Amino acid sequence: MTEKRLFFALWPGEVIRRGIVERRGLLGAPGRRVPDHNLHLTLLFLGDQPADRLAMIEQAAQAVSVAAQPFELCLDRFGWFAGARVMWLGGAAPQAAVDLAAGLGEAMRGLGLKFDPRPFKPHITLFRQVRKRPTMPPPEPLAWPVSEFSLIESIFGQPYQVLRTWRV
Ligand code: 2AM
Repeated sequence: MTEKRLFFALWPGEVIRRGIVERRGLLGAPGRRVPDHNLHLTLLFLGDQPADRLAMIEQAAQAVSVAAQPFELCLDRFGWFAGARVMWLGGAAPQAAVDLAAGLGEAMRGLGLKFDPRPFKPHITLFRQVRKRPTMPPPEPLAWPVSEFSLIESIFGQPYQVLRTWRV
C-alpha cells in the first residue's frame, strides 16, 4: 500500500524564517545545515502512514483546529540533543502550544494511527550531525505569533511539502 511520511508542524512565514536564519548565522557551521526552506517546528510526527488515511487525518486536524487558540512563541535559546545530534533554536512552550500538540496526538490516536509518542519539545532543527556539544551564545529572542499549523509531507530528497494549513 502507498504510504506517506507525515508530520504536523508550525511553518514559519517569510519574516520569521528570516529571523531564524539570521540567528543560525551566529553558530558558524557545526554540522549539516537544514535548508532554509525546510525550517519548521514539529508539533507531532506521524511517520509513515497509509495514503488512504489522509482524508481522515485532515478531518481530525480540522476538528482540533476549531478548539485550539493562537499563541506567541518566544524563541530565545539554542540547544543540542546529544542523542539525535541536532542543534536547534527553541523556547518555552505556552500552554496553548502544548494543548495543540496534545490535541493532535489524541485525535490521531483516536483514528487508530500508530506513531512514535515522543514528547513535544518545541524546537527548530538548524543543524544535523552535530557530534560534539557546540558553543551556544544566547540568540536575540524571536517572537513568533502563531495562528496556524500545517500538515507536512516528507519525501526523500525533496523540500518538505505543506499539504494543508489550518487557522487556530
Ligand atoms: P528533528 O528535527 O528533531 O529531527 C521531520 O522529520 C520532522 O519530524 C523533524 O522536525 C524531526 O525532528 C521530526 N521527527 C522525526 N522523527 C521523529 C520521531 N520519531 N518523533 C518525533 N519527531 C520526529
